Amino acid sequence: MEREPWVVGVSGASGTPYAAAVIRGLLGAGEAVDVVVSRAARLTILDETGISFRDAHWQEDLREWLESPLDRGKPEPFELDDVRYWTAGDFAAGPSSGSYPAKGMLVVPCSAAAVAGIAIGLSKDLLQRAANVTLKERRPLVLCVREAPLSGVTLRQLAELDGEGAVIIPASPGFYAGSASVQQLVDFVAGRVLDSVKVKHRLYRRWEGELGPK
Ligand SMILES: Cc1cc2nc3c(=O)[nH]c(=O)nc-3n(C[C@H](O)[C@H](O)[C@H](O)COP(=O)(O)O)c2cc1C
Repeated sequence: MEREPWVVGVSGASGTPYAAAVIRGLLGAGEAVDVVVSRAARLTILDETGISFRDAHWQEDLREWLESPLDRGKPEPFELDDVRYWTAGDFAAGPSSGSYPAKGMLVVPCSAAAVAGIAIGLSKDLLQRAANVTLKERRPLVLCVREAPLSGVTLRQLAELDGEGAVIIPASPGFYAGSASVQQLVDFVAGRVLDSVKVKHRLYRRWEGELGPK
């Protein structure tokens, strides 16, 4: 069977734990994943995890990142066999063409700069190019946006992208799922990202119609 991955674009907004949770969730669901990490995201990964993400050692660095949830718990075991990594400057990479098989793309976290670049079709790097390819091919595109406050420019661009079919998910957790740790709040957002593309997961407790502490 032809490999058909989800492309996960990690841009340089704060919130790299969201990306790790989404990638773990996809792998846990048996999905193939293609990962693109923007240049700026290397700074946020370094700042938020202490990991210097290196193209040449991506497997080692990705594994370390995915194995470091915020609660320092032990995540479900995962394999990187079905993960492909593309460098952000590689415009010859698979996801930069519409003929490369992909289910769609999740940009997690999505910076205001990435919103702008995708909205105007800038394609300044592989992440933005792959997102534009996803739009033009009418595949699911999810933008998990992290910025506060949001400028009018970004709000208008998000509305435009929504009109193009992108799903905009603010990186803002709900508090109704009984989350007791920061990692559980992160998993709530990651779970909503996966819900939007119908990938099965057990990242958060779903609303069951009853008010009150869980
Ligand atoms: C530590 C750090 C945190 C940042 N947090 C955010 C953020 O939450 N949202 C945002 O839109 N930009 C944030 N930025 C700025 C982006 O990294 C910057 O706009 C960059 O151009 C984004 O590029 P990219 O979209 O290609 O990754 C942050 C930068 C740094 C160094």
